Amino acid sequence: MSQRSERLFLRYYYSSFAVSTRILIGGSTAPSTCLEDSAPVVPRLRQPVIKDGQEWLHYRRILNKIMLSPNSVNLMIKPCHNAAEDLISNWKSFGNSGQVIPDLENQLYLWSIEVLLATLIGSLWNDYKHSVLDELQVLSRTLTRIFEHSVHLSRVSPRLAMLARFPSWCGFVTTADYALSAVSRLVEDMAKLENAEDGLLHQMMANGIRGAVLQRIVVDLILAAGDTTAYSMQWLMFLLANNPEVQEKIHNALGGLEEKEVLRDSLLKGAIKESLRLYPTAPFLTRVLPQDTLLGGYPAYKGELVVISLYSCGRDEVNFPRAQEFLPERWLRNEKGEFEGVINPNATLPFAMGVRSCIGKQLAVTQMSITIDKLLKNFKIQCLNTNEITMKLRLISAPSKPLQMRLIRRSTTCY
Ligand code: HEM
Repeated sequence: MSQRSERLFLRYYYSSFAVSTRILIGGSTAPSTCLEDSAPVVPRLRQPVIKDGQEWLHYRRILNKIMLSPNSVNLMIKPCHNAAEDLISNWKSFGNSGQVIPDLENQLYLWSIEVLLATLIGSLWNDYKHSVLDELQVLSRTLTRIFEHSVHLSRVSPRLAMLARFPSWCGFVTTADYALSAVSRLVEDMAKLENAEDGLLHQMMANGIRGAVLQRIVVDLILAAGDTTAYSMQWLMFLLANNPEVQEKIHNALGGLEEKEVLRDSLLKGAIKESLRLYPTAPFLTRVLPQDTLLGGYPAYKGELVVISLYSCGRDEVNFPRAQEFLPERWLRNEKGEFEGVINPNATLPFAMGVRSCIGKQLAVTQMSITIDKLLKNFKIQCLNTNEITMKLRLISAPSKPLQMRLIRRSTTCY
């Protein structure tokens, strides 16, 4: 077992298991306290590879500027556009034959990693990608396997799994080793590309992030981006397929819009918010309290682990009337500037909030918006196994069975 894999694994899980008191927050307001050690806890999903503390804060501030400022979206539109076009042109053959999209999960995984890498190196990606496409295919399958092994490992003591060499442990180590070296090779290679000035990597280097730190940050971004965006996109397609009238409304609203306008479209934004409210890809957030406090009137103490269920908060009638329904319009604002059908918008926080919130939020939303726009301009989406699908927890929330999505070509299509 390599030290790198061990470190990654232990950082990934251990912070949560080491805490003895846990508080579970879900539902409308009142958090219920669960103090037993045996209570199930889903660990913090995105434990960064960079050390916590001042070092992390320093780099996080730089990354905020590069990835979350309003201007940074300009570096994201083109890569998202290209990856969406590749995906749609690949899917056109299935649209013609009426066939179900094969291996949707893996195709979206690849799409998600491609967008990230293309955003990192900008316009050089088009030439560069041919030399790494095969490796990316293997990498995307390997990352899926890492998360599958992680699910088994999250149910047992990590030390026991390691000492007894459980198959899931050995599988995790092999796949994590492979993924970490493949990604490190890739980053090393990409960092050498000259003239990649319209990419995020160049911005990071220009802001003093280099060498091993750069590698660790990009590894972190790739690990965090792949599955989250891919599964969020699957859930969004699933909901649109199950709500054909909403699908048509969004298709009509987007007709003829430029990409920048697509990103501002309120109905599409509402559909993405609704999909993440109903199916938050990261269904739990965890935090260790830095000081004593009151949570919804209940005392909570320094050092306790708070687990917030985004799933139950997002489906609570108190905050979202008709909470189980997919209603993008609820996020439209009325003349007073209030949301039509939302009591407390902060009751759904799919990207968390505050200093540790998702650094990839802007990229994820841009990529999903542009891809849905192109998808709906070309196809109607259908799901053939709707009734069999529930939500399964794989550290992130995934469909319980592979989605059987079918695309029907629209008679007039445009890009
Ligand atoms: C729809 C897609 C996504 C969802 C739902 C999502 C969700 C989240 C959530 C909830 C967190 C906070 C976890 C916590 O507070 O414990 C997080 C953190 C993070 N996300 Fe995302 N994410 C998505 C896409 C991405 C993408 C595309 C990237 C990379 C470009 C990314 C990179 C990260 C990183 C690096 C962190 C850790 C941030 C830190 O602690 O400083 N995410 N994400």
